[in-house]
Amino acid sequence: MPTELTWLGHASWQLNTGKHTLLIDPFLDDNPAATVKSKDVSADYILCSHGHFDHVADAAKIADRTGATIVSNYEICEWFAKQGVKNTLGMNLGGSANLPFGSVKLTIAFHSSQLPDGSYGGNPGGFLISVTNGPRIYFACDTALFGDMKLVGSAGIDVAVLPIGDLFTMGPEDSVVATNLLNPKTVIPSHFNTWPPIAQDPQAWAKMIRASTTAEPIVLKPGEKFSF
Ligand code: NI
Ligand code: MN
Repeated sequence: MPTELTWLGHASWQLNTGKHTLLIDPFLDDNPAATVKSKDVSADYILCSHGHFDHVADAAKIADRTGATIVSNYEICEWFAKQGVKNTLGMNLGGSANLPFGSVKLTIAFHSSQLPDGSYGGNPGGFLISVTNGPRIYFACDTALFGDMKLVGSAGIDVAVLPIGDLFTMGPEDSVVATNLLNPKTVIPSHFNTWPPIAQDPQAWAKMIRASTTAEPIVLKPGEKFSF
């Protein structure tokens, strides 16, 4: 069965491995770009990259309803556990976890991570997901450009999901540099066009990727999916 990656809008993604459903940074109910609500999604695992509201907003709700395990840094997992979330898997940067669908490594990200109530949210991260006998997908999540993306890419990446919104994360130009460091087969933009401050032209971005990298850019609309 192919792996399917669906953009739920903003930085929210659904990854279907055939047997398991992963949600990355679910922010749906108050997300003006989302095409689904939190009550309508299923999940086995919910990955939260950092503590900002646009990444953790609906995770507890979905975990309570589905019994999904929240995978995040240790501090964010403790914060969710205090709210009554039953299944959490706390990690820290550089660590990997073996899960039924494959492995997840928590990679570095240059950003911040305060939780919505002001609690300390540990360090922000990204996710390198290796599906068993399947593809490897890298979610940079909210981050600036950094040179060690070269190291992340040395694992061999099939699909890289990169922010292009600028202002709070890297913008389109830096994401082209990131693509060259990561050297993925396919690159998909995220974290843009949710609100006016992060408005971007994804077709102009795709042109830059085609002109300056060997990766194939795939531009999705919220609700659309890419199979690979
Ligand atoms: Ni953020
Ligand atoms: Mn964000």
